[in-house]
Amino acid sequence: MRQKIVAGNWKMNTTVPQGVELAKEVVALGEKLEACKLAVAPPFTHLYAVAEVLKGSKVGLGAQNCADHKSGAYTGEISVDMLESVACEYCILGHSERRQYYGETDETLCTKINLVLEKGIKPIFCIGENLEEREAGRHFEVVEAQTKAVLYTLTPEQMKNVVVAYEPVWAIGTGKTATAEQAQEIHACVRACIAEKFGAELAEEITILYGGSCKPSNAKEIFAQKDIDGGLIGGAALKAADFIAIGESF
Ligand code: 13P
Repeated sequence: MRQKIVAGNWKMNTTVPQGVELAKEVVALGEKLEACKLAVAPPFTHLYAVAEVLKGSKVGLGAQNCADHKSGAYTGEISVDMLESVACEYCILGHSERRQYYGETDETLCTKINLVLEKGIKPIFCIGENLEEREAGRHFEVVEAQTKAVLYTLTPEQMKNVVVAYEPVWAIGTGKTATAEQAQEIHACVRACIAEKFGAELAEEITILYGGSCKPSNAKEIFAQKDIDGGLIGGAALKAADFIAIGESF
């Protein structure tokens, strides 16, 4: 059975005290949740304090990015050693906002994913087409290319520790969700693409999350799809009750 995960990407939201409060609520409300693993990815400044809140709970901690170098003179960057030192279990990589606004390339992502995996941190590797690509009917081609460019450079041992997140850019923060069918067909395509390189057995074990305006009202239908193993949640993860309600949708 593939692991089901509902992870909250807080993006650049909340102050440290607000984030600590939110984490406390997630721990309290999520205590009895058995259907899936919960994780939260707060901003870097919050990680240490949120880690303290999550200690002893089942909620995992994630970062939203990491540096593409191990250490040294890289002002403003955060290394995987630093993430390891605050007990990060996950690190989101290649989010479309990083690709779009910060020029993150497949090449940088290959470096980052290796650094993260070396530390035993699980990457949540994001892929997804933009509106123009979807309207041109290029969505399958785009996600396949993104998958191959980074994941095909990994060994099977590394691949086993990767979580993939399909996030159609046109659905992020827009209130416009992909239909369950649209999401399922891309998830199946990504899994087939992984199977092509790593074999069907390994591909069957990979958790593939959906992200993009996922909320309590639509999560159930999306999560019911065969190849969808949970969600990467943006806006709705900022309200503990909504986030937990999404987790309860399995
Ligand atoms: P929204 O849930 O706000 O659309 O964001 C999705 C996302 O980008 C999660 O990484």
